Amino acid sequence: MSNYHIKHLEEYFQVYRKSVRNPESFWEEVAEEHFLWRKRWDNALSWDFSKPEVKWFEGAKLNITENCIDRHLNTRGDKTAIIFEPNDPNEAAQHITYKQLHDRVCRFANVLKEQGIQKGDRVCIYLPMIPELAISVLACARIGAIHSVVFAGFSSTALSTRINDSDCKMVITSDGSYRGSKTIDLKGIVDEALEDCPSIQSVLVVKRINSDIQMKEGRDHWLQPLLDEAYHDCEPEIMDSEDPLFILYTSGSTGKPKGMVHSSGGYMVYTAYTFKNVFQYRENDVYWCTADIGWITGHSYIVYGPLANGATTVMFEGVPSYPDFGRFWEIVDKHQVNQFYTAPTAIRALAKEGVDYVEKYDLSSLKVLGTVGEPINEEAWHWYDDNVGKKKSPIVDTWWQTETGGIMISPIPFATPTKPTYATLPFIGIQPALMDENGKEIKGNQVDGRLCIKFPWPSMARTIWGDHQRYKDTYFSAFENMYFTGDGALRDEVGYYRITGRVDDVIIVSGHNLGTAPIEDAINEHPAVAESAIVGFPHDIKGNALYGYVILKDTGEYRRHDNLRKEINQLITEQIGPIAKLDKIQFTQGLPKTRSGKIMRRILRKIASKDTSNLGDTSTLLNPEVVQEIIDNAL
Ligand code: WT7
Repeated sequence: MSNYHIKHLEEYFQVYRKSVRNPESFWEEVAEEHFLWRKRWDNALSWDFSKPEVKWFEGAKLNITENCIDRHLNTRGDKTAIIFEPNDPNEAAQHITYKQLHDRVCRFANVLKEQGIQKGDRVCIYLPMIPELAISVLACARIGAIHSVVFAGFSSTALSTRINDSDCKMVITSDGSYRGSKTIDLKGIVDEALEDCPSIQSVLVVKRINSDIQMKEGRDHWLQPLLDEAYHDCEPEIMDSEDPLFILYTSGSTGKPKGMVHSSGGYMVYTAYTFKNVFQYRENDVYWCTADIGWITGHSYIVYGPLANGATTVMFEGVPSYPDFGRFWEIVDKHQVNQFYTAPTAIRALAKEGVDYVEKYDLSSLKVLGTVGEPINEEAWHWYDDNVGKKKSPIVDTWWQTETGGIMISPIPFATPTKPTYATLPFIGIQPALMDENGKEIKGNQVDGRLCIKFPWPSMARTIWGDHQRYKDTYFSAFENMYFTGDGALRDEVGYYRITGRVDDVIIVSGHNLGTAPIEDAINEHPAVAESAIVGFPHDIKGNALYGYVILKDTGEYRRHDNLRKEINQLITEQIGPIAKLDKIQFTQGLPKTRSGKIMRRILRKIASKDTSNLGDTSTLLNPEVVQEIIDNAL
């Protein structure tokens, strides 16, 4: 038996040692014993971080949906695969069994084929958290089409940028979505985006809110009638292990979003294996991750990881505050959830509303609690531990990234003793390194540095769609022969890792990864704006909020216009989405710049955080006098 399910700390250390001593044979054993391959691989791993090139299970043939659905049909056909909990608590939840999932994915896959989608084509999915989102993802994977899910909170501009970057042939969307007491006109956003997307040939529309929408003749099709006519079985397309499974965009510190490309075989093996161990999932458990499938957390730990283990996974359409702040706990009680995985920002928002909402419900089914997306502060950690877990459910603080595909540093519940704010130990097979600014590895404990990974793991992204050079420059150039994460971390006296945050120009707001450059680009489009700089500052609930410094072309004319702040945020909402709106906007005469013209964000960050006692060395500034002006007018 391979070490598929780790239960004790000793076992963790033993398996970890094995996994790093001989990674190839370790992952081969896991892959061989727990998955369905149509053909075995010729070579477990080949890699070269200098190119960079990484291939896992080369030559193997598989289809991930066969692993996530078909192979469970004999043993778990009538087991619930997906529990759908609608936005409105009065609408009935749906329980979709593995058999039903098979039927729905196959029909959807046949519709895609009839619409001319073939292996390798890109399909953009822009849907709310309804079953069709998971089903369309799986339907693409069924026929080897590459899905590119765009979070349905993104604006039409953000959507069209992503569609065009990978030349998607189709968009799958809905007439609209529910979000708490509001409805959102998703189809309208798609129509706007598509004015600018020549590669799109067809749009499939799910009916969700029964709104009156425009359907463009020849391009747009209601999904349901097509599904009704489609055949209920569809042979899976047999894929190479290294064939792309999906593209998922993530913000970078500069320029346009990066389309991270994930593989089929390695991604499957790693997400399934991490899911099993990090959540200690057992047959008949009900697992719930509150993320949206528009993010990597949803791809790996709502869809692929859970289904590859034959698990029951909850999909929630709504928001934590509707109809009131007890909604999460009501759902845990209603579906007897055993593993609950959410983000620090949600925990902080709910903690603020008090424990009464939590205490109304029976949470005794919970066994494991998880958090992801940003560093969790000590207060939120304890609130979660005390009030949700009642001090008996270990908290897994899972550190990972869109780029890593799966969880990289995390406790294994009931094995690794937890420590508030620490993601603790590297997961099996993961070899972290802390690096200093001169590119040297910092050995030993009680140290901090830039977090890198020394050795490939199966679910790492293989490239950036259409821009391999950027992939190399972003992740493999800062430190030789290392994958650089962009995060800083410290290692304590026993070797536990604590992630301290981004060391680049990415800011994590409410767990969303936002690059400064695209936001600045949006602001600079305002006719009154000459230049801008965005930094993050600490925020009680969001973790970080955005602070914008804006230079106007004509200060006299615009300074008094309060509307200008609104207009700037409106532009950001249009270009990126409401998640990127600024909390504070300070109009200024200048920005601190180095002699080479680079904005010194370090100084701006300190001012935004009201920490101006020690601004560090400002002698290299071209214009040191602006610093005092900015401090005097800080918000
Ligand atoms: C960045 C990646 C991975 C799913 C969600 C985010 C930060 C993520 C943690 C954690 C501290 C964390 C890092 C990372 N982050 N998890 N447990 N503790 N920081 O995916 O949007 O690609 O963002 O989120 O800064 O680099 P993402």
